[in-house]
Formats: sequence, structure tokens, C-alpha cells
Amino acid sequence: MKTTSPHLLRLLAAAALMLGANVASHAQDKATQLHNRATAAMCANCHGTEGRTIEGSAIPSLAGMPKDYMVLQMKAFKEGTRPATVMHQITKGLTDAQIDTIANYYAATKR
Ligand code: HEC
Repeated sequence: MKTTSPHLLRLLAAAALMLGANVASHAQDKATQLHNRATAAMCANCHGTEGRTIEGSAIPSLAGMPKDYMVLQMKAFKEGTRPATVMHQITKGLTDAQIDTIANYYAATKR
């Protein structure tokens, strides 16, 4: 009776490892997506669910807003160069990395 070759066993072990790593990286992607979504959700109270306000709202929609534009506005609010009623307060609590994450999120959200 022929036994399984050690070479084949090594190959199988490598394949199993790669499969495991792949599953872990998908879980990581999913966790990052959820985290980004939760970060962006702090804007929903005023800017609407998924950043869509209703027609005629005084507060602008964020969905589909170009990333560069949003980052510039957020930094201007934070530094006080753009006058605001509330956004200067909101942006004070955000790091540049969070602003980047949020801007990416809304730029990728359909209007
Ligand atoms: C408490 C209500 C409130 C929350 C929460 C809020 N905003 Fe705002 N946002 C406003 C208001 C009101 C304005 C108009 C400027 C002002 O008066 O502060 C505004 C303006 C903006 C603008 C400028 C839009 C433009 O067309 O130039 C951006 C960008 C923005 N908000 C992004 C965000 C993001 C991103 C979040 C979440 C991190 C957020 N806002 C959370 C109320 C809010």
C-alpha cells in the first residue's frame, strides 16, 4: 500500500494555511467596513441616514460628496477658517485619520 508522500502533505498544509489566512483577512475587511460605517453614522442625526437629507433640507447631503472637498471643509471647520454653527464643535472631536475615513465613506456612498 502506498502512503501519502511527505511532499503532498506539506502542500496540503500550505494550502490549509493560505485558506485560513484568506478567511481571516476577509473577517478583517468586514470589521473595517463596520467600523468605518459606525464612524460615519455619527453624522446621520443631522445629515440623514447614509448622509442623505430630505429635499429642501437646510443641511447638505454628504452622500456622494467628493472626498477632497469634504476633507477641506472639515479641516476649515476644525481650524475655524470656515464659520459654522455646529460643525466646528463636531470636527474638534475628530482626528485627521477619522476625517479621512469618513470622507472616503461618503464619497463612495451613492447620492
Ligand atoms: C448636530 C448636527 C450635525 C452633525 C452631527 C453633523 N453635522 Fe455637518 N453640518 C451641520 C450644519 C448645521 C452644517 C452647516 C454649517 C454649520 O452651520 O455648522 C453642516 C455642514 C457640513 C459640511 C459642509 C457641507 C458643504 O456643502 O460645504 C460638511 C462637509 C459636513 N457638515 C460634514 C459632516 C460630517 C462628516 C459629520 C459627521 C462626522 C457631520 N457633518 C455631523 C450639522 C451637523
